[in-house]
Amino acid sequence: MERAELEAQARQILLTNLRRGVADWNGKEFSFVVPSLTGYPFQWFWDSCFHAIALTHLDLEQAKSELTTLLSGAQPDGFIPHIIFWEMEKQPDFLSRNIVGMTSPYFSATIQPPIVAYAVERVYRATGDEEFLNSALPVLTAYYRWLRYHRDPDEDGLIAVIQPEEAGTDCSPKYDEALGLEDLSNQGFIAALRKVYAAYEPMRGDDRRILAADIFHFEDVLVNSIYAFGLQSLARMLGDAPEAEEFRREADKTRDALVEKCWNEKAGAFFDLCGVAEKQVEVVTISSLMPLVLADLPRNIVERLVNDWVSNPEHFWLPYPLPSVPASNPKFMPGNPRGFIWRGPTWVNTNWFLSHSLRGHGYPELADTIVAKTHEAIELSGFREYYNPYTAEGLGARNFGWTTLALDL
Ligand code: GLC
Repeated sequence: MERAELEAQARQILLTNLRRGVADWNGKEFSFVVPSLTGYPFQWFWDSCFHAIALTHLDLEQAKSELTTLLSGAQPDGFIPHIIFWEMEKQPDFLSRNIVGMTSPYFSATIQPPIVAYAVERVYRATGDEEFLNSALPVLTAYYRWLRYHRDPDEDGLIAVIQPEEAGTDCSPKYDEALGLEDLSNQGFIAALRKVYAAYEPMRGDDRRILAADIFHFEDVLVNSIYAFGLQSLARMLGDAPEAEEFRREADKTRDALVEKCWNEKAGAFFDLCGVAEKQVEVVTISSLMPLVLADLPRNIVERLVNDWVSNPEHFWLPYPLPSVPASNPKFMPGNPRGFIWRGPTWVNTNWFLSHSLRGHGYPELADTIVAKTHEAIELSGFREYYNPYTAEGLGARNFGWTTLALDL
């Protein structure tokens, strides 16, 4: 597809999914893109960051509004929710099909992968708007400090998620054992999640207590790779400010902890740590590759990940790479998952992260192929939520917001 055509189609989706107004419940103005008008009609944290990055290619004002709206959802203690229900009238229908951890009716009490500092950095670099940067920085510093205080109680540099949706890779098979999942379907997943939610009921909102209860406690590799990546951005944006050093140190600490605790030399992959006891969950998924986003990952590790996993046709190197689960996993499901997501199909956001990472680590051919195949999938099937990694058949939501990241590959 020609660049102009790709841009025209992406613009169409972002405009159609754009929601503007004033929220009844807090009187604040909102202006942001929903992931999908039908399936996901609210503001999602990491989706919004991806939308803003795509918008830097199309509409700089809207890129700023997307993030300003997200950051306006920050709470006094620094927390920024995973979902903000700006238009409450759409909520009952959504909650009849989904479960969300909440202490307020207006937003979730959960997090998503903390990419926001990088998104702000991209929008700032594209616009040069100092006012935008200066209003974002205090919110970002409070947010990353909130994560450290509330989500890293053992102070090892790795933050923990309390339920799978917080990692953005909801039904990934790496969580099956911890959830006690036997019915391998979306219904089975929701039923397992309901048990976790029920156990959290008396503690919801007190994340340190929830983590100490050790019900679902994952020091997740994808989340921590993005955490370190975000901290690096924040430190760069802070420049000479005294706080810059704090976040640079924290980024290094997280990278070192990923290598020391999550790297498995035998498997040649990174694994999440489950529970307070930090047991490695030996299931390779797209998350196992995510530390590649760190430019300063040790070279021997980069080579193992690329040679053993990424470029291996038995694992991730399928006709439309990179699948969310390698083909060698017995639970790999390349086709229509009926809502049981992140178990095989290829997603554009992880391709965006990993194609840039591979290029940065000196693998331009692999990066070029991922980019070309992603564009081909979009040309064949439209801007879908995810794609069959063998056929590029489009799956999940249509006109899906973050698939416009194809503009930034
Ligand atoms: C699904 C995805 C999650 C995304 C959300 C909205 O729940 O797993 O990563 O943020 O949809 O698109």
